[in-house]
Amino acid sequence: MDFDNKVVLITGAARGIGAGIARCFAAQGARVIVTDLDQDLIDKGVADISTEAGIASGQVTGVVADAANQVDMASAVATIIADCGSLDVLVNNAGIGGPTTEFTEISASTTALTGMTDEEWDRQLMYNLRTAFSSAHAVIPALSNGGSIVNIASIAALGPTVTLPAYGAAKAGVVHLTRTLAIELAPRQIRVNCICPGLLWTRAWELLTSQMKINQPELANMTNRQVFESVVENITPLGGEQTPEDIGNLAVFYASEKARMITGQIVAVDGGISVK
Ligand SMILES: NC(=O)c1ccc[n+]([C@@H]2O[C@H](COP(=O)([O-])OP(=O)(O)OC[C@H]3O[C@@H](n4cnc5c(N)ncnc54)[C@H](O)[C@@H]3O)[C@@H](O)[C@H]2O)c1
Repeated sequence: MDFDNKVVLITGAARGIGAGIARCFAAQGARVIVTDLDQDLIDKGVADISTEAGIASGQVTGVVADAANQVDMASAVATIIADCGSLDVLVNNAGIGGPTTEFTEISASTTALTGMTDEEWDRQLMYNLRTAFSSAHAVIPALSNGGSIVNIASIAALGPTVTLPAYGAAKAGVVHLTRTLAIELAPRQIRVNCICPGLLWTRAWELLTSQMKINQPELANMTNRQVFESVVENITPLGGEQTPEDIGNLAVFYASEKARMITGQIVAVDGGISVK
């Protein structure tokens, strides 16, 4: 797939799944801009992505921007247009997995709905749904006709997870936003599609397994990685975790000319978890 001369913006991509998506687009020749929340994260992320993808320095760069903040995102878009001349693909990846993040203390009280505060509910909606809305809102006026938006939701959008009620609701919102934007942007030949990742060993799961060990004392003697592996083993029909490249490969396909008639679609990359 040829992404030479294509400009791709990926939110929350200094590490984790977003960094994997960045590596996949860069490997296809795209000019990639990643956003994240602070400069140190961006500097390390850009260096790691470039090294791991084996690409020239300057092909991947970064901008500090909160994906839930339209002013930040509009400023990032202006910088990209000034530097690159166009913007062809937006990947709405920024999100905070589960109830525990750098934004909030790990707390056993934030799991099921009955233990959740209004503040935690709002935070989950802000960082997992408004991120996609605000970034799309800022990017769409500048996005090339014929371009593409790829939204990253979650298998938590496809069925209830009792311990992740706000996260699941936010990601279900991302699914709905995908279908709505697909119709709104079709006259400009901009396609909008969605990926629901399953289980990936990123910082999000490092935090989530810490939370699980607080809530389930029987897990206390296991390492976080062992807790994650036991979840993968218990619920994944294909029997393994997913990698950021598994997500990135579909993002690249969605954004490519090969998918020119695909819009408004939701695909789980989850080893079969969501069909069990
Ligand atoms: N890891 C999984 O198993 C999994 C499963 C399903 C869905 N997801 C989704 O995939 C996406 C990426 O998750 P991950 O596992 O790579 O998480 P991660 O925590 O490893 O990486 C997310 C990155 O996004 C950044 N970020 C968070 N909020 C931001 C904001 N408002 N603006 C800019 N940057 C922001 C963080 O600083 C971090 O660098 C998220 O939307 C997450 O909900 C992850």
